[in-house]
Amino acid sequence: MSKVTVVGAGNVGATAANVMAIREVADEVVMIDIKEGVSEGKAMDMMQTANLLDMNTRICGVTNNYEATANSDVVVITSGIPRKPGMTREELIGVNAGIVKQVTESVLKYSPNAVIVCVSNPMDTMTYLIHKVSGLPKNRIIGMGGALDSSRFKYYLSKALGANPNEVEGFVIGGHGDTTMIPMRRFATLRGIPCETLLDKETMDKVVADTMVGGATLTKLLGTSAWYAPGAATAEVVEAVIHDQDAIIPCSALLEGEYGEKDLCIGVPCVLGKGGIKKICEIELNEEEKELFAKSAAAVHKTNEALPC
Ligand code: NAI
Ligand code: 2OP
Repeated sequence: MSKVTVVGAGNVGATAANVMAIREVADEVVMIDIKEGVSEGKAMDMMQTANLLDMNTRICGVTNNYEATANSDVVVITSGIPRKPGMTREELIGVNAGIVKQVTESVLKYSPNAVIVCVSNPMDTMTYLIHKVSGLPKNRIIGMGGALDSSRFKYYLSKALGANPNEVEGFVIGGHGDTTMIPMRRFATLRGIPCETLLDKETMDKVVADTMVGGATLTKLLGTSAWYAPGAATAEVVEAVIHDQDAIIPCSALLEGEYGEKDLCIGVPCVLGKGGIKKICEIELNEEEKELFAKSAAAVHKTNEALPC
């Protein structure tokens, strides 16, 4: 029996739970929130799609009852406030740090062996905070940001190429922030053909710039931050762990010398499978990429300084 808990049954948490249930990522998905009735109601609504979608996952929702989350294999943390138009992810730190700390302690009390997937923003800093408050081995804490940013990169590439998004490969490393993420243009391909040979520099620059503000663009349109792609990207990360896929997905991981950085969590390509992060893939960066990564790491370090611990 596999079990996943999603803390925070808001836009992203509920979407992630729904995608995981439909894809049958786990046998059981538990949603927990502080808002009375919300998790219960969303779980019931999702369960009423079981016969329509031929879905076998059992979904349940609870309010503040961590006992119901006991023995989860993976815990996803989405609790906290999202940004509003004009806000950066970094501005959320004051409120979200307190929530993420309390939630981490509560989930580990009942699921001491779980892999934790952090979604709450500012995500790299919240992932680092989870390391600090939990003391868990580093492989068991995964920050979800690169999976989403890479999917947005592939979306913008596919639009520029006039291609099916499923034919495009590409990934994003660095911090999960408007100015810190690094879409890896050099490695983007259309079925193996380098995109830089198919698109002119100006178009490629625009794809990269649009990707970096992909979240902000949606926040402006929606009045709050996005949830469909964030929820699906979270489900992709959980699926890789639960199904031991050895999938290479960019995630925020604790670096201990890799990419010349230490004592911070930032997006790098990781092999995900049973137990969480099996390996951090160290790709050879060129001088320009090294400079961008160092700048991104410095910005994430600066945000970490605002943590209360
Ligand atoms: P939302 O406001 O729709 O949902 C958040 C939920 O957390 C609410 O239902 C709230 O009641 C709950 N909550 C608050 N404190 C809690 C606590 N102590 N215990 C349990 N539940 C608690 O927000 P949304 O849009 O779902 O975003 C959630 C977080 O995810 C935000 O911080 C947002 O910035 C972040 N995010 C991160 C992404 C990423 O790629 N890492 C992508 C999209 C959003
Ligand atoms: C996003 O990228 C705001 O992190 C959130 O949609």
